[in-house]
Amino acid sequence: MVSIRQARVEDLLGMQNCNLHNLPENYQLKYYLYHILTWPQLSYVAEELKSNKIVGYVLAKMEEEGEPHGHITSLSVMRTYRRLGLAEKLMRQSQQAMAQVFGGLYVSLHVRKSNKAALSLYKDTLEFKVHEVEKKYYADGEDAYAMRKQLQDKPAGTGGKKKGDKGAEREADGKEKEKEKREEGIEAREA
Ligand SMILES: CC(C)(COP(=O)(O)OP(=O)(O)OC[C@H]1O[C@@H](n2cnc3c(N)ncnc32)[C@H](O)[C@@H]1OP(=O)(O)O)[C@@H](O)C(=O)NCCC(=O)NCCS
Repeated sequence: MVSIRQARVEDLLGMQNCNLHNLPENYQLKYYLYHILTWPQLSYVAEELKSNKIVGYVLAKMEEEGEPHGHITSLSVMRTYRRLGLAEKLMRQSQQAMAQVFGGLYVSLHVRKSNKAALSLYKDTLEFKVHEVEKKYYADGEDAYAMRKQLQDKPAGTGGKKKGDKGAEREADGKEKEKEKREEGIEAREA
């Protein structure tokens, strides 16, 4: 039986193992640790209860710039545990906490244009929409779809205005800062 629960520091090696088996975007342990210590409510694991093996995880964070929103850094499920609904459950748990704990208005992620399984999960099952295409986002030159899903409406009295130049500047500045942070802590682009 597989259980979904919040990720803990002792899960780091299991999460990294699951990542190394399934994705070319790999991270140093400190990058997992940074997520789990900063936003403990946002990262989840799927644990095989008989063996205590980590068979799937979602690693997520809140973005600091612009409107409050969450970001899925990485998601992976071991091959023999796929199509059991584990990724969907991991994603929904994280999304719920982004909205309820941190007031996230939307959740964002990147996905390779060629990743049919993940695209189907995000688009068809979880109802993400393509926000933009980021050319050559990945280290091997592949483009990414930057996808978003709205989690909740803005609290009354805080929105409605069009994003002006300042808003756009802040967003661009935020992207740049996030990029710097990623490059300090990881070996490759986020998934
Ligand atoms: C993408 C991935 C996380 C999906 O994990 P999963 O646990 O098998 O997904 P789920 O069982 O929750 O699937 C939910 C839905 O997503 C879609 N989906 C998942 N895998 C699919 C596939 N191989 N082909 C088509 N649709 C797929 C289906 O709509 C599925 O619902 P269904 O099984 O009722 O048809 C998994 O394939 C994986 O780890 N891949 C390698 C790593 C990766 O690509 N991570 C994402 C990086 S952005």
